[in-house]
Amino acid sequence: MNPKRKILITGGAGFIGSHLVRMFVKKYPGYRVVNLDKLTYAGNLANLKDIEAEENYSFVKGDICDSILVHKLFEENNFDGVIHLAAESHVDRSIVSPMDFVLTNITGTVTLLNAAKQYWSATIAPERQKRKLFYHVSTDEVYGTLGKKGFFTEKTAYDPRSPYSSSKASSDHLVRAYFHTYKLPVIISNCSNNYGHYQFPEKLLPLAINNIKNNKPVPVYGKGENIRDWLHVEDHTRAIDLIFHKGVPGETYNIGSNNEWKNIDIIFLLCGIMDRKLGRKAGSSAKLINFVKDRPGHDLRYAIDFSKLKKNLKWKPSVPFRKGLEKTVDWYLNNEAWLAQVTSGEYVKYYDEQYVKR
Ligand code: NAD
Ligand code: TYD
Repeated sequence: MNPKRKILITGGAGFIGSHLVRMFVKKYPGYRVVNLDKLTYAGNLANLKDIEAEENYSFVKGDICDSILVHKLFEENNFDGVIHLAAESHVDRSIVSPMDFVLTNITGTVTLLNAAKQYWSATIAPERQKRKLFYHVSTDEVYGTLGKKGFFTEKTAYDPRSPYSSSKASSDHLVRAYFHTYKLPVIISNCSNNYGHYQFPEKLLPLAINNIKNNKPVPVYGKGENIRDWLHVEDHTRAIDLIFHKGVPGETYNIGSNNEWKNIDIIFLLCGIMDRKLGRKAGSSAKLINFVKDRPGHDLRYAIDFSKLKKNLKWKPSVPFRKGLEKTVDWYLNNEAWLAQVTSGEYVKYYDEQYVKR
């Protein structure tokens, strides 16, 4: 580990990004962390309030598609590493506005790759190349959907089926192309569904927590039969930390947790926790469950084989699911101001248009 690394983290004001920025700023006081974020509806500097004054941290508001800004940042900071998380991340939004996903997830990624390629090849001697790394944070959704059996491995062929997963798959391919064509040192990880605090309440779990709290219907798509493999966000950021420092350039690592849940089962589990925490009669939250029209092209099942990460880098998930979920519920119930802030304005308008009328 080099104590003086300068790292660009993109999307650091979002859900996973803010956990990662906090971890790097606190764990590596010798590093300099620059957080580049456009602050879309999903980006929130309140997520980083506790570390914003740290000397080894700075924030830049800007778009990863802004090539002049991105080149200027590389020129000024001489980054050793990039951890790229900035993205449009919500499948339902990608169905409504695919172009936003093409622009940020594909064009934005290429803009960053171009800057890294230009500055790293122009400014550094070959022996220092090994200090440089472009880490692209991606999703298991690039692999498409599974039937009732099987797991995604790093060798599974890409078969993305939503505009979101297609845009992420496309960016993964471009990142690999820069490794093969230009020898840019890159790493990709593909992770399963994350949960935890600071997640925007359009994703299933925080949406359900917020709606149950407010006695609003909890929309479950179709029959709630779809399956996701849930991982606590802090286990994801621990894996990113490990892969960033010990992973092999050119390689891909799957991150998951062997924690598969049918949507309807996880919602029932959550309803039980909410009844208890809110002091409501058992069964009252479950009455809010509202089966709505299915998401178009809804992938049936995601499940990750993370044995490569386990074997090569000795990573395994550490947060027990029920404990992690309880902690997440507590956080949302104790942070009403955060929820009120992020559910005002643009989100409410979008939410009303997309979901409430269903
Ligand atoms: P998020 O939507 O919470 O945050 C995305 C962040 O990116 C926000 O802060 C937003 O302001 C910023 N951003 C968006 N467009 C930008 C642009 N053009 N320029 C600069 N910043 C921009 O997303 P998340 O859930 O934290 O996901 C982070 C990354 O991890 C994404 O790349 C996503 O594909 C990947 N991922 C997420 C999950 C998950 O379950 N949430 C799982 C696997 C992989
Ligand atoms: P989501 O949190 O959007 O993550 P992803 O689509 O990336 O997996 O959704 C998780 C699962 O929950 C997915 O199968 C879709 C489903 N879902 C609902 O049933 N209702 C909802 O309101 C939302 C947002 C998702």
